[in-house]
Amino acid sequence: MQTEIAATDTPEAQKDAVSKAVSLLRGGEVVGLPTETVYGLAGDAHNAEAVSRIFEVKERPYFDPLIVHIVGEGQLEDVAEVPDEIAPAVAELLGAFWPGPLTLILPKKDVIPDLVTSGKDTVAVRASGDPLFRKVLREFGGPLAAPSANRFGSISPTSARAVVAELDGRIPLVVDGGACNCGLESTIVRVLPGEKKPVLQVLRSGPVTKEDLRKFGKVEFLTGAAPGGAAPEAPGQLESHYAPATPLRLLGAPEDFVSEPGKSYALLSYRGEEKDGYLGLTEFARVGVLSPGSGKLPEAAVRFFFVLRELDAMGVDEIVAEPVPERGLGVAIMERLRRGSAVMKGSE
Ligand code: TXA
Ligand code: MG
Repeated sequence: MQTEIAATDTPEAQKDAVSKAVSLLRGGEVVGLPTETVYGLAGDAHNAEAVSRIFEVKERPYFDPLIVHIVGEGQLEDVAEVPDEIAPAVAELLGAFWPGPLTLILPKKDVIPDLVTSGKDTVAVRASGDPLFRKVLREFGGPLAAPSANRFGSISPTSARAVVAELDGRIPLVVDGGACNCGLESTIVRVLPGEKKPVLQVLRSGPVTKEDLRKFGKVEFLTGAAPGGAAPEAPGQLESHYAPATPLRLLGAPEDFVSEPGKSYALLSYRGEEKDGYLGLTEFARVGVLSPGSGKLPEAAVRFFFVLRELDAMGVDEIVAEPVPERGLGVAIMERLRRGSAVMKGSE
């Protein structure tokens, strides 16, 4: 099978791409679609065969449940229950962040096949803000299951080209919506009733930050991203997730770096500034800078997987990463750096 990249740079091309995607989805196929976070691999959420095809294409273990995408709050009751005790908090969160990069974990409706949720009685629900994704959802007319469009354990794709690099020949179509606006996967939250305020448990950090969420409840992190942290709650948040093929090492400070003779290194730098003390640590084969100059976390987030993918393609022995400030979007970036470098820790 050849993977077609459908352009969307004119209104006609866009219409064509959307209807191609929709007809493939109706036929039980899976297709690559842009969202504002990362590209998704979408299939009909009601069709167990299509869902199983998603797992197969991604080589994803069946214990790792998928996210179900809907257009918005109006379709929520088609896929999930909202228990009375959290209904006001859920309504506030949806009002503030949907459509957008927030995924909620809610009790699932029976119409969603168990395969989608890996047998869990909860479902992860998201309403993407991406106009193309929304067009496909509307025209398709039902929920779509869509995890990130990468092979299991690999880096999430933030461009159509990156989807092809991951899944070429395994899927018939990728709709090219350009580079993703956020660049990091959605924030995953479970809402629990609390004493004074609802409790918002963050299962995966993402573009909706702690600072954004705390107006709506007490924020707790269950991401397990900290070194030696507890087992993550989202089953897919395995330690080695987000790993490039090249070993990745996250430094805490420049002093942590010890170069081994004969080894080649690439540097993943936050702002590419000499004064931060990392650029001169060794003769790096390549330096990838997340946000050149003064360093801006939103820019670093958008470019994160793109730059990591570029360094990964260099064929060096190791990618060394500078830490980024751990606030706002920096929390989500650090979570991914820690997981990406966990593979190395495991092999030591
Ligand atoms: O931004 C995103 O969320 C992207 C775009 C394509 O929507 N999707 C994405 O999906 O990142 P995926 O499958 O790569 O990550 C979904 C995460 C996994 O870690 C999975 O374990 C978790 O969500 N998850 C799904 N259903 C869950 C559930 N019922 N309870 C807890 N975690 C769940
Ligand atoms: Mg993923």
